[in-house]
Amino acid sequence: FANPMTDPFGRTISYLRVSVTDRCDFRCVYCMAEDMAFLPKKDLLTLEELDRLCTVFIEKGVRKLRLTGGEPLVRKNIMHLVRELSRHLKSGALEELTLTTNGSQLARFADELADCGVRRINVSLDTLNADKFHAITRWGHLGKVMAGIDAAQAAGIKVKLNAVALKGFNDQEIPEMLRWAHGRNIDLTLIETMPMGEIDGDRTDQYMPLSLMRAELERSFTLKDIPYKTGGPARYVDVAETGGRLGFITPMTHNFCESCNRVRLTCTGTLYMCLGQEDAADLRMPLRASEGNELVSNAIDEAIGRKPKGHDFVIDRRTNRPSVSRHMSVTGG
Ligand code: GTP
Ligand code: 5AD
Ligand code: SF4
Repeated sequence: FANPMTDPFGRTISYLRVSVTDRCDFRCVYCMAEDMAFLPKKDLLTLEELDRLCTVFIEKGVRKLRLTGGEPLVRKNIMHLVRELSRHLKSGALEELTLTTNGSQLARFADELADCGVRRINVSLDTLNADKFHAITRWGHLGKVMAGIDAAQAAGIKVKLNAVALKGFNDQEIPEMLRWAHGRNIDLTLIETMPMGEIDGDRTDQYMPLSLMRAELERSFTLKDIPYKTGGPARYVDVAETGGRLGFITPMTHNFCESCNRVRLTCTGTLYMCLGQEDAADLRMPLRASEGNELVSNAIDEAIGRKPKGHDFVIDRRTNRPSVSRHMSVTGG
């Protein structure tokens, strides 16, 4: 690419994550409070505006685009945006268009997503036990997610599972999840819980460093580090016993900020340069101020010019306050 976006630390920005809605049909206990105030609908960018912003980013060198939320598939008419964005796959400007989803609506959308050129999706799933699933998501039904995973695989979409490792909740179950996923040709990635947003319970109780998890898994499995790269933050190992891949996302114990390639856009047109920082830039005003894209393009350059070196996450056992006050569902992970 001729003129890539580069930040002050020499990192090329080629990956845009777009939170298309802050709403979700679940209320995962580590992610949201039960009673959440969501953005008023009037503050949302339209799907046309989101498409326009994404297109500017693609023209500026973004090669990988991931829709997130909240839950991206609960945004009204979301397939209209996916369909529009898929033109950039056809033209070759975009290498990958993908989603991170809770899977609840996937059965309905899988065929259409595949038809739009979505080859790979990440499904968030923290347990295979229906009762525990209902408890952790407060509102979710495991059967619907399973049907969604089946539909995606039947449509030829490669599925990866993301599980947040939670002490006392799913740490004992990870070996079983690993066997289950790998048995179905699904990669599994484990995530360290990050202190984002006020939740009802105590987040520090459940925090589980993945170095510990890895050591425990190594008592039953042979893990071999591999250079597999998706452009995401996970470091992957091969699991000899299952023949599948296992990823570790370790923002707390081993941050991957030095190779960060991404920025995040919210459904109101706010650009966050880092998941673990409060600093942001408004793109809605420059977007709406003119029909041309020059103002937006300049605002993006200015924002990337102050992308921080790394995130500010700390697990503070004393105050138990989140390092970052906005919820994960605002920026979509
Ligand atoms: P692929 O590697 O393309 O499959 O995607 P990914 O693993 O980067 O994306 P996914 O949406 O599956 O993200 C998994 C988890 O990683 C989410 O919980 C995110 O919050 C977290 N994550 C993704 N990018 C970052 C990042 O830049 N910083 C931090 N701290 N966490 C991130
Ligand atoms: N820390 C880590 N991961 C989180 N997720 C949501 N909240 C948090 C948190 N505080 C995960 C979801 C999903 C992904 C988008 O982010 O489980 O896999
Ligand atoms: Fe919804 Fe994902 Fe948050 Fe769960 S983790 S409440 S599925 S946005």
